[in-house]
Amino acid sequence: MNHVILIGFMGAGKSTVGRLVAEALRMPFVDLDTAIESSLGTSVAEVFQTLGEAAFRTAESRALASLADVPPTVVACGGGVVMDDDNRRLLKELGHVIYLRVGAEEALARIGDTSGRPLLASGDAVSMASTLLAARETLYCTVADTVVDTSGVRAHEVAEKIVGHVRLTREEGA
Ligand code: S3P
Repeated sequence: MNHVILIGFMGAGKSTVGRLVAEALRMPFVDLDTAIESSLGTSVAEVFQTLGEAAFRTAESRALASLADVPPTVVACGGGVVMDDDNRRLLKELGHVIYLRVGAEEALARIGDTSGRPLLASGDAVSMASTLLAARETLYCTVADTVVDTSGVRAHEVAEKIVGHVRLTREEGA
């Protein structure tokens, strides 16, 4: 499977950038959270609230595993996908993994209203985001083939960088 897989913290721009990359590379695009919402028939926030985070993570792992059966696709993953060992193994097998790096404060500024992000919606969002990001940074780096810093960079410029990396990787592999 040669997917182009975007990982990174909430607010890193995975969905926005992913759509642009898919368009430029003429590949299909899948947002894993949207796929989960379709399969469960409800929003991510609602799943966290009614079924709990563990149920969401199970659905997330299932959605990720289902990518093994689809043609090359640009995939935007939820920020927590790297927390699970099996997910990390699978991500590496599925294609070219790109980590979109962003700092906690910029991520929160981009997100704005955190009500759709259950892990940031209650309490002090800045300290929650900083704690989560610190716990995940190494995992994002462990899984990534390429790291792209998005701080202060517009989505279309991030997308151009990624398209360049993917094209180069394809040429090298040809
Ligand atoms: C999560 C990130 C969210 C979503 C869920 C959990 C996380 O996706 O999957 O709220 O654990 O970081 P985005 O990264 O697309 O916001």
